Amino acid sequence: MARNRVPTTGQIDGTVDPGNMLSDSVIQYSNGNSRRNIEDALVAAGKDLNDLRPADLMLVEDFHTMGRFATVQLADLTNIDADAEVLDAGSGIGGTARYLAERFGCRVTAVDLTEDYCHTSRWLNHLVGLDDRITVHQGDVTALPFADAGYDVLFSQHVQMNIADKPRLYREARRVLKDGGQLAMWDITTGGPDPEYPLPWADVPALGHLVDQSRLRSLITESGFEIDQWNDLTDQAATTMRAIIAMPPNPLGLHVFNPNFPDKLKNLTTALADGRLRAVQVLARRS
Ligand SMILES: C[S@@+](CC[C@H](N)C(=O)[O-])C[C@H]1O[C@@H](n2cnc3c(N)ncnc32)[C@H](O)[C@@H]1O
Repeated sequence: MARNRVPTTGQIDGTVDPGNMLSDSVIQYSNGNSRRNIEDALVAAGKDLNDLRPADLMLVEDFHTMGRFATVQLADLTNIDADAEVLDAGSGIGGTARYLAERFGCRVTAVDLTEDYCHTSRWLNHLVGLDDRITVHQGDVTALPFADAGYDVLFSQHVQMNIADKPRLYREARRVLKDGGQLAMWDITTGGPDPEYPLPWADVPALGHLVDQSRLRSLITESGFEIDQWNDLTDQAATTMRAIIAMPPNPLGLHVFNPNFPDKLKNLTTALADGRLRAVQVLARRS
């Protein structure tokens, strides 16, 4: 794989859509510092930015419960191959897109509302030499800026918790998938009384839109999908998150671009362990 020189910020800037600046999701996620903070952390961890490999980013780029473990497990369920057109809906700083593009050699389109994350994602794609396989769009998963029936697989990890209009989310997912295309999701649902906040996707309850598993399943099937796999991985998630919390401090981790992350992680892990939150892996098919 060709090595890349580090681009300056101006070479990879995207544009900010002022129309989205009041969105709940943007309020939750955008602090404008993700690229700078990740760059500093990579340097502190001894990484050479002019010779960066996708694996160097593993600890910092999977912004969801169980990190890379969850991404690998979900990808294993899909039928992605090198010819697949994959959409990562709510792509964050692009860890899932890079993982899929590198593992399968497929093309990945990444879309996220937070321009700061899109900018960081483009920069990282370039640094690890995957920008020829991944395109990044700033956009809303409830109004996808893509034509009908263009994708074989739509991947989405830990995004629906921020979406109030879930029927629109799944309608859009169905619209852009080819007939028989797969919807692969890794998400959090409610399971009991309210959890403590902040949580990784919502500093306060009003920024999240959690539903229980039965409601989530109905929303997906009512939008024109058939469920192929519905795996409640709450126990595994709680155990994995406890192990992650117990790891020695590392300059690389989601704390790098997420304020107050240790508290968010503790609240998430506690609520998974006592069942107030549940973690579900879903594979559905466009019917
Ligand atoms: C918890 S992060 C997960 C990011 C990524 N899927 C991952 O697992 O690393 C949630 C992401 O959803 C994005 N998001 C929230 N609402 C969105 C919307 N309406 N349209 C597009 N992206 C959205 C946020 O900007 C954020 O990047």
